[in-house]
Amino acid sequence: MENHAIHFQYTVFHNLSELSPDDQQLIDDAIKACSKAYAPYSNFKVGAAIRTGDKQIIVGSNQENGAFPIGQCAERVALYNMIHTVGRQPIETMAIVVDNIHQKYPASPCGSCRQILCEYRKFQETPMRLLLTLANGGDVYEIHDVPDILPFAFDGSFLGF
Ligand code: THU
Repeated sequence: MENHAIHFQYTVFHNLSELSPDDQQLIDDAIKACSKAYAPYSNFKVGAAIRTGDKQIIVGSNQENGAFPIGQCAERVALYNMIHTVGRQPIETMAIVVDNIHQKYPASPCGSCRQILCEYRKFQETPMRLLLTLANGGDVYEIHDVPDILPFAFDGSFLGF
């Protein structure tokens, strides 16, 4: 018998000024995207802003529905928006921002979004970085690469792809 362990490191910035101007801008873009969220059921508005490898910015926000399960998360809306506007680009960084007064610390992508982002991570050789924070300020969590937060993932390789 042997025990295995998976560790991952992430970085917490206590002040926005510790981030590069490009990262600060991306967070600002995600905050602005929050204003386009449609979240009447949860009141949990999420904005996502992608910076592609060639420095284009694409945004998305969560879009809920009275039939709850068919709502879309901000991350997926941003990802699909990217594919249809600038094509399948490497994602260098995605900023994900929550606008909800009850939320005290950054939210991280749901399991389904992690799975979907990991699918797209396979098409790029560079890390897919995440910046997580709240619309009204506070710490910024930096995830260095999306697969870090989906260890032991299922993917197409199990199906022979
Ligand atoms: N949501 C996102 O858009 N992204 C996340 O990372 C977590 C959750 C949305 C889904 C739903 O509209 C609301 O937040 C509450 O779950």
